[in-house]
Amino acid sequence: MITFLKETNTFFLENERVTYAFGIRNGELEHLWFGAKIGHDDLTYLRTGIGSGCDAGLPGRYSPNHHSQELPVYGQGDFREPMLTWRGENGDLCAELRYVSHRIVPQQKTPGMPSTFGGETLEVVMLDAIQGIEVTLLYTLFDDVDAITRSCRIRNVGEQTVRLTRAYSFALDLTVAAPEAISLQGAWARERTPERVPLHHGVWSIDSKRVTSSSQLNPFVALVEKDTTENAGSAWGVSLVYSSSYRLFAEVGPNGRTRIGGGINDFAFDWTLCPEETLATPEVILAYSAEGLGGMSRIFHDTLRRHLITPRYVGASRPVVINNWEATYFHFDKEKLFAIIDASAGTGIDTFVLDDGWFGKRDDDHSGLGDWFVNTQKLEGGLNPIIDRCHERGLKFGLWFEPEMVNPDSDLYRAHPDWAIHAPGHALCEGRNQCVLDLTRPEVRDYIVGAVSDILSNHEIDYVKWDYNRNITEVYSEGLPADRQGEFAHRYALGLYDICERLVFGFPNVFFEGCASGGARFDPAILYYFPQIWTSDNSDAYARTQIQWGTSLCYPLSAMSCHVSVCPNHQTRRITPLKTRADIAHLGATGYELNVSHMKPEELEQIPAQIADYRAMEQLVMEGDLWRLASPFDSNLFAFELVSKDKSEAHVTLMHVLRTSNNAVEMLRLGGLEPDAVYECVGDGARYHGSTLMNVGLLVPTNRLVDFETLVWHFKKI
Ligand code: GLA
Repeated sequence: MITFLKETNTFFLENERVTYAFGIRNGELEHLWFGAKIGHDDLTYLRTGIGSGCDAGLPGRYSPNHHSQELPVYGQGDFREPMLTWRGENGDLCAELRYVSHRIVPQQKTPGMPSTFGGETLEVVMLDAIQGIEVTLLYTLFDDVDAITRSCRIRNVGEQTVRLTRAYSFALDLTVAAPEAISLQGAWARERTPERVPLHHGVWSIDSKRVTSSSQLNPFVALVEKDTTENAGSAWGVSLVYSSSYRLFAEVGPNGRTRIGGGINDFAFDWTLCPEETLATPEVILAYSAEGLGGMSRIFHDTLRRHLITPRYVGASRPVVINNWEATYFHFDKEKLFAIIDASAGTGIDTFVLDDGWFGKRDDDHSGLGDWFVNTQKLEGGLNPIIDRCHERGLKFGLWFEPEMVNPDSDLYRAHPDWAIHAPGHALCEGRNQCVLDLTRPEVRDYIVGAVSDILSNHEIDYVKWDYNRNITEVYSEGLPADRQGEFAHRYALGLYDICERLVFGFPNVFFEGCASGGARFDPAILYYFPQIWTSDNSDAYARTQIQWGTSLCYPLSAMSCHVSVCPNHQTRRITPLKTRADIAHLGATGYELNVSHMKPEELEQIPAQIADYRAMEQLVMEGDLWRLASPFDSNLFAFELVSKDKSEAHVTLMHVLRTSNNAVEMLRLGGLEPDAVYECVGDGARYHGSTLMNVGLLVPTNRLVDFETLVWHFKKI
């Protein structure tokens, strides 16, 4: 519920567990509380009053540097990080925003951008009458998840042109100090590794300047207290619904409070706002849990599944694919593909996905991107013989695209060299021998939509894997005037969303999976279009326990595409049992990525049972609550537990990493069960009370488990 208390001029956004409160003081907005639910009290006593003689503020008013801000700007005494900055025509950088009005309305989509849905929105209008800038802050509250979202619209209501130099989505000063930050750092094949660091006075930040959300630092941060653990303590999560260059920061101020904020990266950013123009910022999801990181993750999972991902995919059974990439790389012909299709038939695998190499002149990664017509030299008769073979064998057909890219060695580049992103006079940087198409230009977007639509309209295609394999370096567009080049990175995101909107929603019967050189664009904005994303090119089962653990801090298992691949693994050379690879791949949208036609019969025979096991637990993967039980980063075990929302079913997957000798037994305590209910283990029929499983735990027979061996338990309430 969203309430405005006139007596104290305070907004309370609250559900059963969480309150977000801020007030209007002298026309400015003062942040009061974001955390566990509290009463509707007068919170002005929270002002710290700590400052130094050198601080400043308007006559008769407090110095904004001493108090918690809800919309921090620069120029009137707050010396910490602002949320918005702009310069008027005379170069004036001072902002003076004052409350005008507010209203509560049903949530609306952010124009041109992915955003959550299904909530109630508070809009607060603020005005800088001197510079002619109106800022509307938007807060969305959901009844069923402990998250709120924020974004803002900046509108030029004056007569002068204004240059926005920072347009973040949010900022607020947490009332409780949150002294540590957790981010998800990584690289190709090592995406989203949690990193926990102490904050310090001054600014800590993460960002991307790659025009993508990146595998290096995901647009996610958790702020925690020193004693916050997986299952206890406060955790504030921040997840930006954005796929381009971003920045998130945390700043501990002189009064010990922590300001958090961020949005579009203001590095190299500069947006010209002419009279009557509006810039909308991306949405940010803010979650609060008193139940540690696990509680915070479950809030994000529910928020993304219930309020962001296309509803018809939530809870629905997903395709179990066989992808030919690691089986053949670029070196395939019809016969090799037929062999894979034939071997997959009848195993439970239901979709064959033809990866990179089917189009243009594409025998390796030096040429062909952009030429989205079938290479009939390689695939005689085109795609239809393959599609027909799939259908004859009871499989659906999926296809790989990398729509945003072009190779200099391609017909598209030869016809339109200026469509590749480049800066005048500068040499082109190389990245996998390809360039990125300039999605800020409408004619480029039209070409991409037309070319991909032609293939999709003229073939029976059920599934698309949408890849993106390099970062943008020459941040420049020939389609923009010199004074708008600072808009490039955000305009690229808007262009991407435009082509996704037209292709994904234009072909509603095609299932789209996201991918970016593994998991380099794994963010909520992409999830809005693609209900699942290839998590990493590293499909080694042990490496995946870490990658999937880190990814799960923010993203639900239903978002993670996870495949069983061959051993020795192509990325790590590690050998793990086939059962292990399947058990770990089942903790996401599962599939296969190996040459099934080369598998030994005794291995191939295991696939039907593996897929049957997966289907039996699939609803828990798609909709269940995740409990992270044992961390592969700081123990010799990895364990995830999935619990159905009604607590009638639970699935536990454990990996024992390395065998040691004669070591102690370990107990694995479960979470999220009904204490008084009795649960029966499917298979051995053992019965335990929920309280026993949660307090005493399962016995992990470490002495009999070998390297990388997995165990699974499936419990049903009786
Ligand atoms: C990226 C993807 C892979 C595969 C190749 C094809 O690396 O992550 O899964 O599709 O591109 O070139």
